[in-house]
Amino acid sequence: MTIRKAIIPVAGMGTRFLPASKAQPKEMLSVVDKPVIQYIVEEAVASGIEEIVFVTAIGKRAIEDHFDRNFELEYRLEQKKKTKELEAIKAIGKLAKFAFVRQTKPLGDGHAVLSAIPFVDCDEPVAVLFGDDIIDGKIPALRQLMDVYEEYHDPVVALQKVPRKQVSNYGVIGGKAVRKNVWEVQKFVEKPAVEEAPSDLIVIGRYVLTPEIIALLPKVQAGKDGEIRLADAFAAYLRTDRALYGCVFDGTRYDCGNKLGFLKAQVELGLKHPEIGKDLKAYLRTL
Ligand code: G1P
Repeated sequence: MTIRKAIIPVAGMGTRFLPASKAQPKEMLSVVDKPVIQYIVEEAVASGIEEIVFVTAIGKRAIEDHFDRNFELEYRLEQKKKTKELEAIKAIGKLAKFAFVRQTKPLGDGHAVLSAIPFVDCDEPVAVLFGDDIIDGKIPALRQLMDVYEEYHDPVVALQKVPRKQVSNYGVIGGKAVRKNVWEVQKFVEKPAVEEAPSDLIVIGRYVLTPEIIALLPKVQAGKDGEIRLADAFAAYLRTDRALYGCVFDGTRYDCGNKLGFLKAQVELGLKHPEIGKDLKAYLRTL
């Protein structure tokens, strides 16, 4: 079955980006000339996604406005004959069909996904993309996961190999390689201590969920912090002896959820930008 719908949770408060995120969603912070969230939507659309449900919260209205049309702005750009800008602005609203649903309480990423479920067809697999990571690559990262799904018809998580000392901030998998860059996951451990991690393969915020995983989500017990986590749904799913796959995607990941990752994205994507790349390179050499 083809995957047409994606859920993008964007309800998080963005405390790591204060004060920048005090009065605007962290997802709207710009990398070169586009907000982070637009890179993520473009990855989903380039992967074949047609409908996107954002899970939002109070203070996230700018995301809705960004993916809506702005007739006044379009009119003014037309009057001023700013054709390039006009086309770029119009294209954003046409990227996909967008829906917005509110997560009424900050109860975790599993709860965020559950909030969107009434608006996606539960009989279909659905993609989930977290709002923090920009992944730059020839083939969109989500497309690579979708290809694995289309081969095995089981859920898929995105994987990245990292130095062992970094694993404790992520979900970590244990399993066996079924072919190059594709793993059958046997263990899913959330934020383990380095010495207890089953491997150096961490889970990145791109997932293909099947109806089986979605059906498990409402049964997941909240953690000590009261949060319902997708990671716990994966662990519960593995106890049912069903197969879960991991895809080590090809591409560069910029973790825009932290300041250094965000700045690296500015520099590296800036260097690739057709308008400013050359000048930025020359400038960096002068430092
Ligand atoms: C979440 C997931 C974790 C995953 C990470 C990717 O953690 O629980 O398994 O590795 O996203 O960004 P969070 O960053 O929300 O703590």
